[in-house]
Amino acid sequence: MSHTEQPRLAILISGRGSNLQAFIDACATGQLAARISVVISNNPQAPGLQLAAAAGLPALCVNHRDFTSREDFDQALVSELNAHAVDLVILAGFMRILTPVLIEPFAGRLMNIHPSLLPRYPGLHTHQRALDAGDEEAGVTVHFVTPELDGGPPVLQSRIPILLDDTAATLAARVIVQEHVIYPLAARWHLEGRLTLIDQLAYLDGNRIPATGIDYREGLA
Ligand code: GRF
Repeated sequence: MSHTEQPRLAILISGRGSNLQAFIDACATGQLAARISVVISNNPQAPGLQLAAAAGLPALCVNHRDFTSREDFDQALVSELNAHAVDLVILAGFMRILTPVLIEPFAGRLMNIHPSLLPRYPGLHTHQRALDAGDEEAGVTVHFVTPELDGGPPVLQSRIPILLDDTAATLAARVIVQEHVIYPLAARWHLEGRLTLIDQLAYLDGNRIPATGIDYREGLA
């Protein structure tokens, strides 16, 4: 990255793209001093591709179905990320399990958002699982990506209370609002050089981040 250029983000999506939109907005308002240099979807039908096009961003599909192995798919992604000279990779509802082929070259520069209070509920159907378990709170976690699925070190978590009449849908609707707040914030920390991954541990301003991430509260900057 040259000193005169803004850092370059890649946003990887599979679906709706509301987190992508949060990043588009954060770049547009200057909350993030970065530019989205490419949006990549593995799913040609992803509605998020339309959001990227509407924002005038380079968007492309690397369809996992065109590859015989996860490694070959990941190698194609790495080629695109390198071609766009990407500094930070943001997984935003990207529904593919990644291999070290992608994770290793981008170690410490690859983040994900997961709609649960990790380490609880890695994988799918997180809100229903929180309801079924009788949990009193739910939430969302931004974390660094390591080869373990949804297992990389948490950076930032936002917690919300579960209400008596919550369904997975009502819970998801409140959690997604938090997602759009904490993901650009964590990315900003990274772009400012405040957030690092060293020996598989996350640090903010040189201080070790707690095992479940920093608890988000309003005004955190
Ligand atoms: C979000 O809930 C995110 O936490 C999860 O996938 C969903 C993506 O939503 N990883 P969107 O495509 O960003 O709207």
